[in-house]
Amino acid sequence: MLIAVMGDSLSTHGRRLDVGRVGIGRDELPPFETGPIDLQGWFDPDRRALPLELEIGSGKGTFLIQQSRLCPQVNYIGIEYARAFWRHAADRCRRHGLPNVRLVHAEADFFIRNYVPAAAFRCVHIYFPDPWPKKRHHKRRLIQAPFLRSLHRVLQPGGTIRLATDHEGYFTWMTEHAAQVVELFDRLPFDTPASAGEGELVGTNFERKYRREGRPFFAMVLTRRPAAAISAG
Ligand SMILES: C[S@@+](CC[C@H](N)C(=O)[O-])C[C@H]1O[C@@H](n2cnc3c(N)ncnc32)[C@H](O)[C@@H]1O
Repeated sequence: MLIAVMGDSLSTHGRRLDVGRVGIGRDELPPFETGPIDLQGWFDPDRRALPLELEIGSGKGTFLIQQSRLCPQVNYIGIEYARAFWRHAADRCRRHGLPNVRLVHAEADFFIRNYVPAAAFRCVHIYFPDPWPKKRHHKRRLIQAPFLRSLHRVLQPGGTIRLATDHEGYFTWMTEHAAQVVELFDRLPFDTPASAGEGELVGTNFERKYRREGRPFFAMVLTRRPAAAISAG
């Protein structure tokens, strides 16, 4: 696979990667003890009042590029912890000249717990998260009840988590973990974003690869319940 052999600063085509202003490196984040940061401050001043959405595990950045072009009045932050993918995706977004995308090099759970203010996002996109299929690795899965509680804190009331996977076992696991926090979220059917291509669910790199292999897909939306509904049980 091309990206696996990508060097630190060169693309596979020998071109120098430049994350520009799009890429937020680990060394640009303050010490985590400092507390939440102003994420909108990463965007130009005239864009800071726009709605903010998050994508976790952006991979090569295809969803961010497709969706942010269609929705210039939304700011998008991607999180990617694999340095080679982060550099590749940030370089791509920079070359597309997208003023509404920032990509942070961080582990999602750590970043959200330590840096993200409450009610920061109106939507969190998680497409084809690593399924960790072996039973002894299930504990590494991103989607777990405590993580859903973390996402609840950073979503606005009515905000959504959008989940898609090709792995039926992981989807069952997601469903079970969502049921553990049923007081926090309502579950809705998945609706395809406008940026998806003909016949696609979302149109990420992994979806396109798996579609060629004929795999089925599973998806859901979790909507953050309003505070009143939560206290009412
Ligand atoms: C299977 S790939 C899917 C990439 C992309 N969403 C797609 O559909 O093409 C999962 C991506 O999530 C990233 N990832 C996995 N766990 C993560 C975490 N805890 N924090 C940030 N990124 C993560 C991986 O490095 C990888 O790029």
